Parts: sequence; C-alpha cells; structure tokens
Amino acid sequence: MKTIIEPFKIKSVEPIRFTTKEEREKILKEAGYNPFLIHADDVLIDLLTDSGTSAMSARQWAGIMDGDEAYAGSKSFYRFESMVKRITGMKYIIPTHQGRAAEKILFSIVGGKGKYFPNNTHFDTTRANIEFTEAEAMDFVVEVGKHPEERADFKGNMDIDALVNFINETGPDNIPLVMITVTNNSGGGQPVSMQNIREVRQVCDKYGLPLFLDACRFAENAYFIKMREPEFKDKSIEEICHEMFSYADGATMSAKKDALVNIGGFLSLNNEELAMKCRNLLIVTEGFPTYGGLAGRDLEAVAQGLEEVMDEHYLHYRIRSTEYLGEKVLSEGVPIIEPPGGHAIYIDAKRFLPDVPADQYPGQAIVCELYNVGGIRAVEIGSVMFGKYDKVTGKLIPPPMELVRLAIPRRVYTQSHIDYVAEVVIEVFENRDKLKGYKIAYEAPMLRHFTAKFEPVGEIA
Ligand code: F0G
Repeated sequence: MKTIIEPFKIKSVEPIRFTTKEEREKILKEAGYNPFLIHADDVLIDLLTDSGTSAMSARQWAGIMDGDEAYAGSKSFYRFESMVKRITGMKYIIPTHQGRAAEKILFSIVGGKGKYFPNNTHFDTTRANIEFTEAEAMDFVVEVGKHPEERADFKGNMDIDALVNFINETGPDNIPLVMITVTNNSGGGQPVSMQNIREVRQVCDKYGLPLFLDACRFAENAYFIKMREPEFKDKSIEEICHEMFSYADGATMSAKKDALVNIGGFLSLNNEELAMKCRNLLIVTEGFPTYGGLAGRDLEAVAQGLEEVMDEHYLHYRIRSTEYLGEKVLSEGVPIIEPPGGHAIYIDAKRFLPDVPADQYPGQAIVCELYNVGGIRAVEIGSVMFGKYDKVTGKLIPPPMELVRLAIPRRVYTQSHIDYVAEVVIEVFENRDKLKGYKIAYEAPMLRHFTAKFEPVGEIA
C-alpha cells in the first residue's frame, strides 16, 4: 500500500519558533509548570488541543470575505442553518460562539438541583456547566473503555446496563436528558457505535427521555463507524451522520473541532418549546438568534467546514495520521490508550510513571517533560483535570485514568512534524526514571487545570 498523503497542498505557511532546552526550562518554571500558561510562540509543536486550531481551506477563507454581517437575517446564517439541518436533520438551529455556550444555554434551562445527566463520559466543560446548575453529571462508559491497554472497536460506547440501572434507581423524572459524546474525548477519543446509539435510543424511548449528542467530533465518529461496523462499509459519511443524528432529539456542537474553524458552535433541537427558551436565553447571553455570538463570516466558514469534514479522503488521512503517531510510540513500548483514538493519542501516565502517585500528578510530570525536551505542548487529562477532594478528609479522589493527551490539530502539521513528536515522546519515555511528581501551589475552584500553578516535588524513590 502507498503512503497515505495529506489530501491538500499548502498555500500559506506560519513559522514556528525554536527555543533551547535552557530557555524552555525557564519558560515552564515561570508558567508555574502549567503549559496552559505558556505563550504559544514559545511552543514548537502545539498539541494542547485540536479545538479551534484547524487550518482553514482556501474556500473557507473565501467565505470569510463573503460573510454577510447583517445583524438580523444574514445570508451567512441561512447558509449555516441549511448546512446544519442537512447533517443533523433537526428543526431548530441556534448558533453559539463555541460548544460550551451551547451547553450553558441548554443546561441552564434543563438543569438544576436534584437533576442527573448520564453520558458516556462528560467533557470537562459539559460537566462544569451541569454542576454549575447544581445538577449531577454521571459517566457510564463501557468497562473496556476504562482499560487503556485493552483493544476494542468502540471503547466510547455507553454501558447500557449501567444506564438502565441508574434510570431505575433515580427515576426518569429527575433525568432531563441522556447525552452521548461522539467521539468520547475524555475517554481517549474513542468512537461510539451506531448499534450503541440505537440501544441508548431504545432505553430513552422506554423511559420517555430525550437523547442529545455532544457532536464535536461527529465526522470522525462516523468514519470509525464506516470502518468498523460492517453494516456501514458502503454507506457515505453523510448517510452515517444522518443516521447518528436521527436518533437524537438535540445536539451541542463545538464547531472548533469537526467544522474545521477557529471559533463557533451550535445547539440543534427538535423540540419547539425548548428551542424558544434556548433562543430567549441566547439573546441575553450570546446575541440575536441569527448570529449567536459569531460574525457572519464565522458562520460562512462553519458551513463550508462542515461540508469539507465529511470528505472521505480527508477523514482517511485524519484518522490514519493519528494512528500513525500511536503506532510509532507503541512500537517503542510507550503505554497509550489502544487502539489510537480519532483526534489524539493519549499516553497512559499510570503505566508510564508507575511510581508517581496520583496526588503527585504523573500526567503533569510527563506534560512538563515533553515541553522541556522537545518544545511540545500537551495536556494532562487525569487528576489535575478531573480530581476531586474528599469533603471529609480533604484527600484527592483521582479519576479512573491518568492520561496525557497529544491532540492533533486538523490539517496543520505534516508527517515530519509527527515523526518529531514521536521521537520526543520516546526520548522522554526512555528517561522516565528521572521524572519527578508535582504538587499544586494554586488552584481555582472550578476547571482548575486552566490556571493552576505547580511546584516539583522531591526525587521519586
Ligand atoms: N464537548 C467536548 C467533547 C469537547 O471536547 C469540548 C471541547 C467541548 C464540548 C466544549 O467546546 O471548547 O467549543 O466550548 N474540547 C476542547 C478540547 C477544549 O481541548 O478537547 P468548546
């Protein structure tokens, strides 16, 4: 088989800045050992996130010039709306400035004390928006999804029995909706099968519950369905997307992922009454319903990006390039979530640094070293991001997994960039015995990973 090439050529380039190891050590220290606080031009390869970091196409840039900036009824809104309707089949399309704005609006209306929201795994902003209303966010990913070293095709699936038990215990009246995150970002970018979406739909029908998709990476999920569920091997990506969304009553979307743009999002709904309430809140918090916190040009770029993301050559390259990085580091023994996910490689920090305990944040230790050694910025998804404190003892309650995510921006880096990333990861792994843990010196009450400051702790015995 021939090399799978980037299905684009490069028209415009952006230089990246090289730094020395000494410079990076100083920069990291000044940032409180939190890569979120490093200036981006001090980063060589930025794998912090795949969100809002996509390279736009020439057609998207043309759309930016063509954007209609009318306050009300902009033609760019109608192009955006018809594209979102084409994919989701939903009736009411509400633009928002990004995914969490859609979540904020939705959960402000359906959330509240005593309410519960099941999901395969809530992303951190989804969880935070639910908890902000004093409702509870519940994760019910399948058991295999919690074991990084075990391979399965759809490790993002919802555990149907756990979901049913939970609904029976809690009573459906306290569950305003069930959510499925495609792909399951916090669980390793792992896909959810169509079969599983259908089963969740059946459960929802049985108990009269609405089903929502957190659809940030819907096209990547659809590609995995095409590759791994035989029933879909001859279906187009768009047909698969239609079917996925057909089981849902609503969706929240961060266009910063699978709409290949730098900003944008939406809430799509079928229920008229809920849509009215959401639009009213949108006007207070985001803007008029035909722009929702975005410029007309952004809506154009989203509409075009949604079309491009469903191209199979693009998705083939996208999923393969992530897998390529995964295979390279795995071949040298680096423990990762297997198989590789859609948008990122997740290093399993527990197996990478077995001697660093959760309360010394092994993922953070790896993240810092990747920066020091190679100028690569990654993100911890473990006890820093999801750790809680026991209300009585004050001790850290770690989440099930300690991960480091290497998220791949869409259409940004070439194969040689990715080869370099693999080399740095392997070097850090080979020298892992030298790594120290960290303690938290400052933290905010919510979403602490964004602003926390750390200090290294002593040598690990
Ligand atoms: N849901 C999922 C599954 C996400 O991955 C994100 C964002 C959001 C919702 C919120 O969207 O950022 O547009 O407000 N994830 C980014 C990431 C930040 O790095 O994974 P947003």
